[in-house]
Amino acid sequence: MTSASRKILATSALPYANGPIHLGHLVEYIQTDIWTRFQRLRGHEAYYICAEDTHGTPIMLKARDEGLTPESLIEKIGGEHRRDFADFNIAFDNYYTTHSEENRYFSEFIFEQLKTKGHVDARTITQAYDPVEEMFLPDRFIRGTCPRCGAEDQNGDNCEVCGATYAPTDLTDAVSVISGATPVSRDSEHYFVRLSDFEPMLRDWTGSGRLQSEVVNKLNEWFDIGLQDWDISRDAPYFGFEIPDAPGKYFYVWLDAPIGYMASFRNFCTPRGIDFDTFWAPDAPAELYHFVGKDILYFHALFWPAMLHGAGFRTPTAVFTHGFLTINGQKMSKSRGTFIRARTYLDHLDPDYLRYYFAAKLNNRVEDIDFNVEDFVVRVNADLVGKVVNIASRCAGFIEKRFQGQLSGTLPDPALTMRFYEQHSTICQYFENREFSRAIREIMRLADLANQYINDRKPWIIAKDDSRADELQAVCTQSLNLFRMLITWLAPVVPKLAERSGEFLRHPITTGNALDRLTEPLLNHQIGPFARLLDRIELEDANAMMKDTQFMNENEGNNSVGKHLQDDPISPEITIDEFAKVDLRVVRVNAAETVEGADRLLKLTLDLDGEIREVFAGIKSEYDPQTLVGRHVVMVANLAPRKMRFGISNGMILAASGADDAGGIFLLSPDGAAESGMRVR
Ligand code: 2FM
Ligand code: ZN
Repeated sequence: MTSASRKILATSALPYANGPIHLGHLVEYIQTDIWTRFQRLRGHEAYYICAEDTHGTPIMLKARDEGLTPESLIEKIGGEHRRDFADFNIAFDNYYTTHSEENRYFSEFIFEQLKTKGHVDARTITQAYDPVEEMFLPDRFIRGTCPRCGAEDQNGDNCEVCGATYAPTDLTDAVSVISGATPVSRDSEHYFVRLSDFEPMLRDWTGSGRLQSEVVNKLNEWFDIGLQDWDISRDAPYFGFEIPDAPGKYFYVWLDAPIGYMASFRNFCTPRGIDFDTFWAPDAPAELYHFVGKDILYFHALFWPAMLHGAGFRTPTAVFTHGFLTINGQKMSKSRGTFIRARTYLDHLDPDYLRYYFAAKLNNRVEDIDFNVEDFVVRVNADLVGKVVNIASRCAGFIEKRFQGQLSGTLPDPALTMRFYEQHSTICQYFENREFSRAIREIMRLADLANQYINDRKPWIIAKDDSRADELQAVCTQSLNLFRMLITWLAPVVPKLAERSGEFLRHPITTGNALDRLTEPLLNHQIGPFARLLDRIELEDANAMMKDTQFMNENEGNNSVGKHLQDDPISPEITIDEFAKVDLRVVRVNAAETVEGADRLLKLTLDLDGEIREVFAGIKSEYDPQTLVGRHVVMVANLAPRKMRFGISNGMILAASGADDAGGIFLLSPDGAAESGMRVR
């Protein structure tokens, strides 16, 4: 049954252009991507829009630290983000940047509208100022002694020891983390949006059933406390949009970030002739959804609807809020070695595994979810490989070899097919309501039924009797049709697996309104040869990913502003005997090549005095493979082989990362005419 086509615009929070995408981010991108893919496969006009969040002090300072312009930094990091998203098969319809003319236009327009309607006040405030850097300091760039408990080196706005919250001016011995100078107080005029003007409208909007109940409770707490005026301006130096007629004043990043949703959508519409107003006019017929983390709810459920309403646009249909990701039950953190980058994951594991695992855990409440390495391996192997793909692999060979790939003309167990069809609307409803874990549970229950059917009918026994050929073809046709239904439901979750399955079935599963065509069985239909659809996850691959994460977390220069070399402490002492275990050898690089799908890696073929070793090295960003061939480098020859997603790495070549101001990675090369095999002492 085809429901009437809806027009849907969905967004995920825009990632800051100053750090890598990690697994915590991916919860939201995967959640939104599954949901929008689901909507498209139901035949709706659904767009998924995102962009880089490019403005603000941290990005400005990071660019300065790296000797780059902010524009080059956001281009560099934006490129990495785009590659990570593409490799996780996040199907954005548009991925843009907040540093765009469209965004400047809408930011100025919305500000002007708010000002004209009297919602903006200008007033002078006193803030901490760094006299050396000649800039006002956001709270996070000030540290000092807690005024309540006396703990040293605490944040500018809260104490991690006693939990006190305060103004940075309350700290004793406050210092600027940028220059180390003592901040002074300085006055400046700022623009404030009077949020309380919008309270009746916001109470209406939040109370109309469009938000999760936990979110409504939180908002009611905020209403009870009272809505504070919102400071939407910042003083130069600042990377952002200068406010018209206010030289040296810039829009605060959080003003133009959500406007970035609109700007990205406008950028998408213009060349395609899509009507922007259908999605953003006050009476727009389209639905507008923002997927966000619980930490940025205030911006999306209060500021953003107020801005939209105040400027004469529609308000969001709903804001969908999710919790955080923990890793093995712990908060994600570099110091615990659990800050898993998207790229590190991709170096070792297939993206569909993670997409499936998150789907199996996600619901529509604001709950944290946990990535547990062992559970991840067991769950994906048991469900995707052991239940779903197994159905196809148990039957495909018979159809291919005995019936030249031809399915039979009827289904021998229409009642079983019916039991599957009957769950279609329930499963779709679960997806629609973002109750992905329930959808997955139901799909896996049906996968169990399909496997039970195969166990009962035993095609491998039927196959032994030539007179039962029709029965064999029919049983396998039945099973493959059940497989096709399961994989169609799973298509939004595991798009690549679904694509491969579609190629095998010679039937489109990831395109068009496949979910609405589920009830037409494949009969008298030619399928393709069976190829392995999905390998099991090896625990050692997942462990290797965690090890790499730990290694990177430990060795990553902490790039935060104001950190210098002395903050990178020397590792614990080792004995000479321990060091002597490391066998360092000079080797010649015989060949060097890029690795498809790996952003950081080069595959090096090394000649260790006649013994050929293949090693993967994370030096692609710094070295053109051509320039490495023929060069002598130093390798750890006795490092245990490490299995990576792209192959086995048999050793490690030595490289050093540059000091903060130099950056980069430097390969260590022997001095003079070294020969391969020479031991380095
Ligand atoms: O919290 C963050 O990572 C922000 N960059 C999210 C911005 S979402 C939207 F408002 F742009
Ligand atoms: Zn304290």
